[in-house]
Amino acid sequence: MERPIGIFDSGVGGISIARAIRAELPSENLIYVADQAFSPYGSQSKDVIEDRAETVSQFLSNQNCKAIVVACNTATVNSIDILRSKFKIPVIGVEPGIKPAVMQSKAGIIGVLATEQTLNSHSFRQLQERFSDQAKIVVQACPRFVELVEEGDLNSPETFKVVERYVMPLLDKGADQIVLGCTHYPFLKPVIEYVLQDRADIIDTALPVAAQVKRKLSELNLLNPQDDPGSFNVWSSNTSDNISGSVSLLLGHEVTVSVIPHL
Ligand code: DGL
Repeated sequence: MERPIGIFDSGVGGISIARAIRAELPSENLIYVADQAFSPYGSQSKDVIEDRAETVSQFLSNQNCKAIVVACNTATVNSIDILRSKFKIPVIGVEPGIKPAVMQSKAGIIGVLATEQTLNSHSFRQLQERFSDQAKIVVQACPRFVELVEEGDLNSPETFKVVERYVMPLLDKGADQIVLGCTHYPFLKPVIEYVLQDRADIIDTALPVAAQVKRKLSELNLLNPQDDPGSFNVWSSNTSDNISGSVSLLLGHEVTVSVIPHL
């Protein structure tokens, strides 16, 4: 099954999921779309997010993708049902890892870092509700995190300040688990770890999502049987800036990002 797996996010954040998929499924061909013309999704309306998720998924489906990975918590919680009803191929999403956090927490207090639109969504409220008798869930919207990661500013003094500003209130409320509820945030993990000073664990869902992609494809007999390394094509809807440099930096190897005009 040489057909590619399509992966998308509002920008470069979903690369954290793409690299986990690459590690788990090295022979698969991957197509990644950064929908930067509409970034950040976290401050868009639900209607815009749904519309973009559909448009980008249609693009991926037109590329003959055998599955779509919504490598974005904001797009998942706001649009996955609609995507699953419209596309015949498997659609795999990513949600804040509250369940593993609850299982691991000793204090029974979970801190969730996510975008505004994730925290305001119906799906997130339901998720919160589901665990409300097992743990207290405290949340923090982090709009600056996405900007910092998109700018490639992963460890400047400003980044440390912003991380402290968002993370400290959760620690002050007693959280011993910090859920990274947005796929951009794992790129700030070293700074978040530094600020946490072992006072809380970090929950990142990239590996479980990659494992889920493998499970799903295997169940449907869609895995690529070849042994050679798969291709990795990256596209952006941003027609004005070339983001090859920032994507290469995040991935740890050179890639050339192509532009999709009029997406
Ligand atoms: N990376 C995305 C997420 O996981 C969205 C960030 C944004 O565009 O606001 O939520």
